[in-house]
Amino acid sequence: MRIAVVGTGYVGLVTGTCFAEVGIDVTCIDIDIKKIENLKKGVLPIYEPGLEEMVQRNAQKERLTFSNDLASSIQGCGCEAAFIAVGTPPGEDGSADLKHVLAVARAIGQHMTDYMVVVTKSTVPVGTAQKVRTAIEEELAARGVDIPFDVASNPEFLKEGAAIEDFLKPDRIVVGVASERAEKVMRKLYKPFLMSGHPLIFMDIPSAEMTKYAANAMLATKISFMNDIANLCEIMGADVNMVRKGIGSDARIGNKFIYPGIGYGGSCFPKDVKALIKTAEENGYQMQVLKSVESVNEKQKEVLFNKIMAHFSGDVAGRTFALWGLSFKPKTDDMREAPSLVIIEKLLAQGAKVRAYDPVAMKEAEHTLGDTIEYGKDEYEALIDADALLLVTEWPEFRSPNFTVVSKLMKEKVVFDGRNIYDAAEMAEKGFAYYGIGVKQ
Ligand code: UGA
Repeated sequence: MRIAVVGTGYVGLVTGTCFAEVGIDVTCIDIDIKKIENLKKGVLPIYEPGLEEMVQRNAQKERLTFSNDLASSIQGCGCEAAFIAVGTPPGEDGSADLKHVLAVARAIGQHMTDYMVVVTKSTVPVGTAQKVRTAIEEELAARGVDIPFDVASNPEFLKEGAAIEDFLKPDRIVVGVASERAEKVMRKLYKPFLMSGHPLIFMDIPSAEMTKYAANAMLATKISFMNDIANLCEIMGADVNMVRKGIGSDARIGNKFIYPGIGYGGSCFPKDVKALIKTAEENGYQMQVLKSVESVNEKQKEVLFNKIMAHFSGDVAGRTFALWGLSFKPKTDDMREAPSLVIIEKLLAQGAKVRAYDPVAMKEAEHTLGDTIEYGKDEYEALIDADALLLVTEWPEFRSPNFTVVSKLMKEKVVFDGRNIYDAAEMAEKGFAYYGIGVKQ
């Protein structure tokens, strides 16, 4: 079986590589010449645990190839499916910008020679597959040819940092189709991934497109809800860690994704929540819950800064803050919409100094923040003479530091824990002034 995957970003690269891993011949296509040159050498544009070795292994076996040339990769390629996995950046108004998706659809229409299923893998609003179909039809008509094809919607649910595991052993695979022929192709393609016994769910195309947004919006809602509860816990003298355990053991609620913190970030939740609000508005409906989810999240990114200001009575100018963790979550170098950026910006605006350390996002941070902050070569160096430690991303290596060393290095023993990874009572015993999220001080 052979397929093409257009777009070698997070989703495209993981999709192509994982299909190759189960023995399918995959061509990954991207217009970015440098990216493709690097991928041919086994150099990846992103950090994702395990992906580099998997790319190299499959490239060596020639099951995974890379190309800049969509035309020659599609013409006569014998591909049963072509996946569109290019970016859908948010436009000014929050709606998903489909120009890359539709440009790829047109290019496929210009060059396809045999039946194939054109699958949207990028997160796209309801109705996009129909636009993809129209774009291809127009191109085929312009060529004066009548090649049969189908469109399908196959949203991706993988998480950064666990992308390979999520793809190879998915909780479920959702596919929206409009013909039996397309369903047959998609069933064949995904057969190797059903070993874990989880379902391959076929549905109509608009429902598949909506499923992706509804899933991310529900998860974002859980987080904002817990952040609201955490803030109220603080006011009322309750401990959100206890409340979380108390509610999470109810199977209807579940114990996942109910960890309060300093707001969700990344390339998905913020963008998808905005896009769903926008889609609804364009169609005369107001997503009241999601609007609140978004505004709670914006405020939550400032919570740590507000605690810092309260502790130092607003006097932070000239103080040095050690910041552990820059990426929006552990196991990725992705800093898009990261809470760290909001905290840093606010501290710098007050004339404070920030010295940061992150296990993998340092390069990315230098790219974004340049020399506006200092960088520690490890977590301990970041602490030297610091007035406080800010725990921003819960990387595993930050969970049990040597607190004796930490105390000696810091000027003042103050910890602001944005992810509740330390125990308030233990920190107090060690002599730290400790601030968590929604926990008793
Ligand atoms: C998310 C979804 O989890 C994936 O299923 C989806 O495929 C992906 O978006 C996407 O649409 O591409 P991702 O953005 O990689 O994946 O990251 P998550 O692990 O979901 O974390 C998102 C944010 O929520 C992070 O900032 C994290 O710190 C925060 N979070 C998560 C919390 O604050 N509390 C929690 O309990 C869980």
